Parts: sequence; structure tokens; C-alpha cells
Amino acid sequence: MVKVLCSNHENTDGDVKSYAQENGQVFVLETAHTTYAFCVRESGHLEHLYYGEKIDVHYDLSAAVSSKCKYPGGNLVNYSKEYSSLTLETLCQEISSVGKGDVREPFCVIEHVDGSYTSDFVFDSFEVHEEFIKSDFVVDENDFTQEGTAEITSENSMVQLTGLPTAHHPTQQLVVHMKSLGRNVFMDLYYEIYEDCDCITRSCQVRNQEDGKITIHRLMSAQVDFRDCDYEMMHFSGAWVREMTPETIPVSRGKIINSSSTGTSSNRNNPFIILKRSDTNDDHGKCFASNLIYSGNHYECAEVGSFGKLRFVTGINPNGFSYGLSAGETFVTPQAVITFSENGLNDLSHHMHEFVRNHIVRGMWAKKERPVLLNSWEAAYFKFDEGKLLKMARNAAKAGCELFVLDDGWFGNRNDDTKSLGDWTCNMQKLPGGLKGLSDKIHGLGLQFGIWVEPEMVNVDSECYRTHPDWAVDIPGMNHSEGRNQRILNLTRTDVRDYVVEEMTKVFSSADINYVKWDMNRIFSDTYSDEFADQDISQQEFLHRYVLGLYDILERLTRAFPEILFEGCASGGNRFDLGILCYMPQIWASDNTDAWCRAGIQTGYSYGYPMSVVSAHVSGCPNHQTLRNTSIETRFEVAMFGCLGYECNLADMSEEDRERIYQQIALYKKLRPVLFTGDYYRINNGKRTYFGDEVYEWICVSKDRKNAVAFQMHNMAVPNMPEVTFQAKGLDDSVVYHMSNRILKYNVKAFGDLINAVSPIHVKQDSITHRIISKFVKMDGETEDITASGSVFNHCGVALHQNYGATGYDNEVRYYQDFSSRIFIFEAVEV
Ligand code: GLA
Repeated sequence: MVKVLCSNHENTDGDVKSYAQENGQVFVLETAHTTYAFCVRESGHLEHLYYGEKIDVHYDLSAAVSSKCKYPGGNLVNYSKEYSSLTLETLCQEISSVGKGDVREPFCVIEHVDGSYTSDFVFDSFEVHEEFIKSDFVVDENDFTQEGTAEITSENSMVQLTGLPTAHHPTQQLVVHMKSLGRNVFMDLYYEIYEDCDCITRSCQVRNQEDGKITIHRLMSAQVDFRDCDYEMMHFSGAWVREMTPETIPVSRGKIINSSSTGTSSNRNNPFIILKRSDTNDDHGKCFASNLIYSGNHYECAEVGSFGKLRFVTGINPNGFSYGLSAGETFVTPQAVITFSENGLNDLSHHMHEFVRNHIVRGMWAKKERPVLLNSWEAAYFKFDEGKLLKMARNAAKAGCELFVLDDGWFGNRNDDTKSLGDWTCNMQKLPGGLKGLSDKIHGLGLQFGIWVEPEMVNVDSECYRTHPDWAVDIPGMNHSEGRNQRILNLTRTDVRDYVVEEMTKVFSSADINYVKWDMNRIFSDTYSDEFADQDISQQEFLHRYVLGLYDILERLTRAFPEILFEGCASGGNRFDLGILCYMPQIWASDNTDAWCRAGIQTGYSYGYPMSVVSAHVSGCPNHQTLRNTSIETRFEVAMFGCLGYECNLADMSEEDRERIYQQIALYKKLRPVLFTGDYYRINNGKRTYFGDEVYEWICVSKDRKNAVAFQMHNMAVPNMPEVTFQAKGLDDSVVYHMSNRILKYNVKAFGDLINAVSPIHVKQDSITHRIISKFVKMDGETEDITASGSVFNHCGVALHQNYGATGYDNEVRYYQDFSSRIFIFEAVEV
């Protein structure tokens, strides 16, 4: 909750501003386990006091904590004659600007009507809002999208910001109004509290009440000034098919910047970051995290200034950005969400997981388990016709899949990726009955039907481009650089947005469509909009206006089709962010479906995102991205931790693999409730063991802690490693659990010519005899059957059967070769 504390407890009727300044008013934001506090200095600046584990705060916090510097060091700028001891460069602040002595990363840079860049924002007034007002877009209890301009919708109700998606159902909102001294430029700081998950969102609005135009060159969403600098930044970088690789860099003098300039939130650097103490790990220690509810260029900077304090800012990337505000106009930043934990990174992740599940994802699908799907992409790419799709779908239905997704290739002349984006009419040669005909047949098999679209794009070789070349983003007279042979539609234009909405409305209404995969397969180049010149808009506004245009489209379509399950995609994870998740409850995490790579990628996502939004598929082998072979069981065991799908041609698979898939899906459906809603812990995050193999281990524990599913995988078989243990996390110490594994049988061919060690006749490897024997002789895998208390599993770890190590094999030995994995299932038992 928000507490407003003063040394003088009399009511603040009268001049709120001078009262707050004279009394060192303290604003305290409390969540279940954290406290965030700042105060108003006598000069009117907001001094950040504290963000961390919950503390007992009284009105005297400012006296105890705020800066007591009286004689500032040489060469600093003294703020004013009146406040000569105030030096903004040394002060921890809620927001910082330029020109008044603070030379660290600014929160805002504004070019004023007179051309000056100096701003000096000081406290003006504040409001606390309790009531949560829903807009008219309420599909169900969990649904909310902000609407309208920034205004107070009723007394004591929360202010809703415009144009950007926001988190829903905060506990309370604090709005602090600031004014730039000597100017008619105002800034409103929004703080929203999410008590249940220990999160706070921050965003800000600038109002221009000057007579002329001002230009925002930078406006961050959040700033947190830490009083020391003993931190490391953990960020998640990568590229296509290499998303979310964690990297930890010690913060020291200077700056660490995590940002995107692709025009999307990007697979280069995700906007989610962590700041942690160097001894903090998954289970212990203090840590802070931040993410941005935004899908465009972002910027996160940790700077250690000359006085040993760490400043963190996050917001829209200021590089290549500016935004003009004419008299009376406002600009609103995306919300940033921040959280803190004193209990390590797993706990920090739980805060973010709950925030995403309860306050970001919305609509009918927010709390609904996701269907097991079969996607046609890696199964057929562009080469399919209705017969082939139906054959795949029949097999999918038989296997227990619930949704059939027709990926790229169903429209225009789309037989490769050089043409037809923009022409959203069905290719009747491939699908003679149109989408409707196919969808009816798919539904007839008992499956839901979904399709792929990439509405933001156009190929030059398309009717759409031929008719409206001016709709594509490019600079007139210049050669346009393409990505995946395609151009981007100019979503800053209303007519283009209307076209996209109309076309998609036609497609989504043309058949019984239950799911849509919304793709976006290139990054921006040659950004320019003709219309801006006529309207005196800077081209530096382009990328932000594009994102707002995209949100406008997504809002209209998700509002019109509330029952469709939307899945975001941008060549995999090039736009995996909280902005997209406000409209689409899941995102295709990576085009990489290799089980080992995926274990790493999914572990990366797990730091900031719940697995319930991470779409993950089992694909064919050798894997199409790495040519690596992994078993069908390992591929399943990795994918089952996300929203499970299959992306392979079941019709072409061996009977044995198909049989395994039936069993996998049946098991997944039983475990899905725990996997979808449970608390996910990293046990091992790719750690290299004593033996040199690298290990991923996860566990997902149901909210009532009666059930859990754990995963274990390594990359390299290690010989002579007879002792293997498994230690859990998150189980209830006082509950007794039964732990079991999936009891599998292995094809005797997997042991090669070792068959001769037991066979009475000599069997030549890969001979017909070998193949015939392998049809009938299967080797039993090990059975883990352990009953113990949660405390034994959590703190002591249990002994597993040994791995195969060349000295013997039977059903008490694990067949655990390169890239093998295991699933362990925990059920509470009565004793
Ligand atoms: C992107 C997506 C893939 C697939 C193809 C289709 O690469 O990430 O999953 O949909 O486009 O062209």
C-alpha cells in the first residue's frame, strides 16, 4: 500500500507543495515483502531513499536516510544559493534531468521552447488512487485494456494512460505531479503497486503547457538510484535461434547498457534485466529486476557515477528517438515493472512469473490451459496441399493433439518466402475448399483449427505492394534494404492500420479459427514516413509511432476476436516482451527446436517469464537448426515445460515414435495443471559439473505443494559415474512424497553391437537380423520409486540409479547417453 508520512501529522490542507517540502514528506510503497521509499527535499527534488526488503518505516525515514552532505566537494555544481549544499550529482533521485549539475544518466532530456535543454523538475502535488476502473473492453474478470486520454476517470480512481498496454489490477496507484521550474512543462510520475507479487510499475507523462513546441529527446520509464555500487548486471542477449543467453557483468565505474535498436524489443537483448549482489545465486541473496511493457527499442543502463552510487534507468531507447510536443500535448512512457528479492533469483523469478500471469496476460485464455498443437511449419514448410495437411491432422488427432495449426504458405502464391505477404486470400490450388473447407474438416477430426499470419509485412512481389507501394516503409528515391525478402507496412498511418484490421478481420471470420500465430520476421531498416513531413513530425518518432500503431491494431483485433488464442512470434523470440503478452497470452520462444539448445533458451526465459507463456515444440530429427540427434523423449521432456506442441510430420514417423507420442501427450495432459500454474524453480542452470558435463534441472511445484514435476538433462555421457543424485527445490519439507520416473523401454539397436555380449548368435550391426530382433526385443529402462519427506528431497537429495558406464546394464541402470533427460513426478502421499 501507499503510505504518505510526515514529521508533522497535521492535515495537509492548504499548500501541499510547501508543506511537503518543509516537512520532508516521505512516500512509502509497500508490497507483501518489499518497501520502496522516497521523500520530498526542501528544494522540491524527489530523493530516493530505499528499495529492498520490507522495513519498518516511520515519518523519520528521511531524517535518518537522506543525504546529510553540507559542504559538497570541489568542482560540483551547487544547486542554488538557497540550497547551496545540494549537489544533484551526488543525490539519489527518483528522476534526474540535465543542466543542473547531475551529469549521470538522465531520466529525461527535453529541448524547451527557447532551445535550452536544461530542466529542473520539482514536486508539485500528489494523489493516491485506490479504485480500479475497467474500460469497456472487459471480456472477463481478468480482462482490462486501458483507454482514453490520461485523465482521472472518477474521484479516487486510477488514472489510465493512453496508447500503450499496461499491467492490470494494481492494488493502488500513486501519482506525483512535478513541474519544471521556470517552465510550463509538467511531469506526472505514476507508481502502481502489485502487492501480491511484490512488483511496482512506474511510468511517466510529460505535459507541455508552454505556448510553443518542446521536443523530448529522452524520457525513461523508471529510475532507481542505489546508494552503493556492489552489483552485477545479468542480462539476456542473443540472436535468431540463440535467444536469451544469460550474461553476468560486474557493474563498475562507467556504464553497462542493455538495449535494442532493431525496432523491436529484440532477440539481441531482451528488456528484462537483473541487478544482483555478486554472491547472489538462484537460492540466496539480494537481487533486483526490471522489465518494460513495450515492444520497440528499449534501453537499460546501469551507471556507477563518481560518488560510488549505482543509477539504473529503463525506458524507450533514446538513441534515434525524439518526440515533439506542441502546446497542450502530452507524451506517455511505457510502464516499467521492478521487483526486489532478498531470497535469490528463483524468488525474484517467482515475482515476475506471478506478475505476468496475474497482471499482464488477460482475456479468456489468461488462466486457461493451452491446447497441445501440431504445427505444419517444420513438418511441411511451404510444400503442402489439403490432402497432406489432413493426413498430418488425422495423425495428430489420433495422438491426442487438440489443435492443428496451418503455418506459412496458405495464401496468395506463397510457395517460398519471396512473395505474397500482404495478399491474405487463400491459395485455392493448395486448399480447394478454402480455409473454411479445411477448417471444417479439421474440426471434423475433433481438433481446433489455427493459422499463421504476418500482417505487418509485405513482399514487393504481391498484389498488395503493386496496388499500394506507398504503404511500405522506405525512403523515396533510396534503395531499400530488405530482410527475409520483405518490407514493413507503415503502421504509423491510419489507413494502413485500417487495412490490416480489415484484412485480418476477413481472414479470422472466414472459417472457424481458434488460434492465430502472429509473426513478424524482419527488423527495421530505412525507416521513414512521407506523411510526417507534412505534419511537422520528426522521423525520429517513427519507431515509437509504429509500436503504438501495432498496439492499436492488436487491441482492435483482440477485442473483436476475444475467443481466439493469439500466439506472438517474431522469427522466434525477436519480440518476446510484456507488451506483446498484454495481447497474446503466449509467444513462440525460438525457431530453435533442438532439445539441448531449447533447454538453455527456456532456462534463459525462466528468469523473467513464466513457462506458461513460452511456446515449445517437439520437432523432427536430425534437428533442422543444428542437425543434432536427440531422442523423441528428450525433445518432449524439454517442450512439456512450456506450452506443448509438435512440429513434425507424424505421418512419416516410425510406429514406435508415434506410439511414444501418444503416451507423451496422455502424460502431459495429466501433468498440465501443475506445469501451467505451478511455481517453477531452476535447480541447475546449465552448470558444468565435476565430471565436465553440463546440466539443466528444473522443477515445477503445484501451488498447494502436493504435486511436482522435475526435469533433468545433460549434454555429454560421462563414463564411470556410478553415483547419481537428484535434489529437489520447493517441495513442502513436512510432506511425504512419492517420486517416480517415466518407465521407458529402449530399442536394443541403441546398444549397437553390444548385443553380441548377450546374444547366443552373432548379430551383425544394422543387419536385417538386427532390425528384426529390435522389433521384438526392447530393453527395460530403470524404475525410480522413492518415498521420502520433502525435506529429504529438498535438502539431502536422493540417490538415483547409476548411469550406464560400460560395466553392466539391466533395469537398475540408466540409459543416459549424450543429451539424455529424465522427468520425475512427485505426488504427496498419506503416511
Ligand atoms: C518464422 C517463424 C516460424 C515460421 C516461419 C514461417 O520464421 O518463427 O515459426 O512460422 O516464420 O515462415
